Amino acid sequence: MSSSPSPRPGLREVGPYDSPQLDLAVRLNANECPVPLPAAFSEDLAVAVRDLPLNRYPDGEMKALRDALAARTGHPADGVWPANGSNEVLTQLLQAYGGPGRSAAVFEPTYVLHRRLCWLTQTELVERRLDHPFRIGDEDIAWAHDAGADVVFVCSPNNPTGTAQTRDTIAGLATATRALVIVDEAYADFGDESALPLVTDHANVAVVRTFSKAFALAGARIGYVLAAPALVEDLRRVRLPYHMSALTQAAGVTALRHADEAAASIDAIRKQRDRLVESLSRIDGATVFPSRANFVLFQPPGDAKAIWQRLLDRGVLIRDVTGVVPNALRVTAGTEHEVDLFLKSLEEVLG
Ligand SMILES: Cc1ncc(COP(=O)(O)O)c(C=O)c1O
Repeated sequence: MSSSPSPRPGLREVGPYDSPQLDLAVRLNANECPVPLPAAFSEDLAVAVRDLPLNRYPDGEMKALRDALAARTGHPADGVWPANGSNEVLTQLLQAYGGPGRSAAVFEPTYVLHRRLCWLTQTELVERRLDHPFRIGDEDIAWAHDAGADVVFVCSPNNPTGTAQTRDTIAGLATATRALVIVDEAYADFGDESALPLVTDHANVAVVRTFSKAFALAGARIGYVLAAPALVEDLRRVRLPYHMSALTQAAGVTALRHADEAAASIDAIRKQRDRLVESLSRIDGATVFPSRANFVLFQPPGDAKAIWQRLLDRGVLIRDVTGVVPNALRVTAGTEHEVDLFLKSLEEVLG
């Protein structure tokens, strides 16, 4: 009999990343876009994929996708670097700028993957908790400086609070610290301003975006970073060979040809977000947090976990974020119909 292999120390103390994927009528738990890209996108994608020479490795330079992203963002192609979802971009950034003996700062409460990726890449985590209204202020910038971290994460608009940080705040962090400031802009399309203009003057700012939210392509797994060309050179050193498949690259290029159609649903989603804030605010005893993203964080009157379960019993899945913000739930701005069903079910649950 052979013995079982032993994993890396501490591995089994950490659970797998879990987000329930249930086949329900109302899924408002993962901040996805509620409507797919129009049929014309799928037809173009089918044509693009049909002729791919899949017996060969894909373009390791991802040239067509990087050029299309450069054209869309106005950022030079040598400072654009895509990967399989922004989670992979973040992993590569930590592999290059974090790692053993180095540290990354996060402002909690924030996207749980940031801390998880620190663990994965053996980057020491230093954290500071922000209080409502979750804005990074001068004292927090001074803390980041004193912490001497190699990487600072800023999520703006932030998941799960919905708070956006101003461009001036991010410039302040980039100037005050010698860290790589990673601005996670997964939800920037729903907010007001991007940190991208800072990248030209601040070689230590990297803006990370995704096709998974406003772009309605969570299933394709495409994210990218916009940064100085020197940073992209560093990412080449850590990425796996040919990390993006030809299929994924084709999906990205085709999606960018349909970018205006994707953008068309943003206003409708913002409208449902604002409607959620308004309707939830009318509930006695609820605390609702203003949001610049495509979701709303709220603390219901009563036990959030029990309310989450009772919504689920009615076929409505939202996110339990009590592990990140006390007694809080997060609901994605879906279609008008989905939001109707959520609000109606919540009313029933709260009696
Ligand atoms: C703040 C934030 N960043 C990144 C991601 C991951 O995006 P992707 O699907 O591109 O990996 C998410 C997903 O929920 C997110 O909330």
